[in-house]
Amino acid sequence: MAALSYIIRPCPACTRNASRYATGMRVHIAADGRDFARRAADIVCELVRRRPDAVIGLPSGKTPLPLYAELARRARDGQVDFRSVSSFAIDELHGLPPYHPATNATYFRSLLTEHMPLRAFHVIDSEATDPPAECARFLQLIDKAGGLDLALLGIGLNGHIGFNEPGSPSDSRARRVPLAEMTRAEYAQLFGSVQATPTYGLTLGIADLLEAREILLLATGAMKAAILAQALEGPVTEELPASALQKHHALTVLIDSDAASHLHKP
Ligand code: GLP
Repeated sequence: MAALSYIIRPCPACTRNASRYATGMRVHIAADGRDFARRAADIVCELVRRRPDAVIGLPSGKTPLPLYAELARRARDGQVDFRSVSSFAIDELHGLPPYHPATNATYFRSLLTEHMPLRAFHVIDSEATDPPAECARFLQLIDKAGGLDLALLGIGLNGHIGFNEPGSPSDSRARRVPLAEMTRAEYAQLFGSVQATPTYGLTLGIADLLEAREILLLATGAMKAAILAQALEGPVTEELPASALQKHHALTVLIDSDAASHLHKP
């Protein structure tokens, strides 16, 4: 299929669906997997060219894997220079040693930091014994870096962003959160069983993510279609944390045609 981009513009005549039309959200539907990786990398690289010392929040998960591979390729080929960029992993599992294969520390080491020099890459300490103090430290680091220029986000099957599970308040800050059963079930393959999967995560809060100057939401696959449509076109509700993104003034959504299949087209 051909790639498609459109902007959901404010629609003064439409009050019933006000939240759906309240933003200048840009939606890009990639033609295929390569196009998805290329477009996502273009957005990141364009920011880095404009702002070489950009501060970027990054999600883990399967969705951004093609993006990280493309960024590593571009860095290796000298197409982009990340040496002044500071990055922050937006969440982490709690209660694991940092070198555990399932931590985001390990994920980003193997996918990013081993492949490209960055000015700094920060993760929340997965072994934090004082989670509020650790979350405060992490927020201070972001603050000291000048705030997030860009937050990249994935979306969980239950609509979570970072580890902000359903019920997360829109004014929530970085904190330790109990993981939803659906989230633990998703992680179970990495741990052998749901019982062996961590019960808590550490995450930037919804308010922290919304403070990013730009947000890029990534989603692929038919499994994400229904929750994505609810998040972008349904009411803003704490029961669906990703719906809070509708309130952001600079939200770009990059998805494939499967994930787009429940969206209303312009
Ligand atoms: C995980 C992570 C999120 C990620 C999301 C989607 O639990 N905490 O940061 O964006 O779920 O993951 P995936 O891309 O594998 O569907």
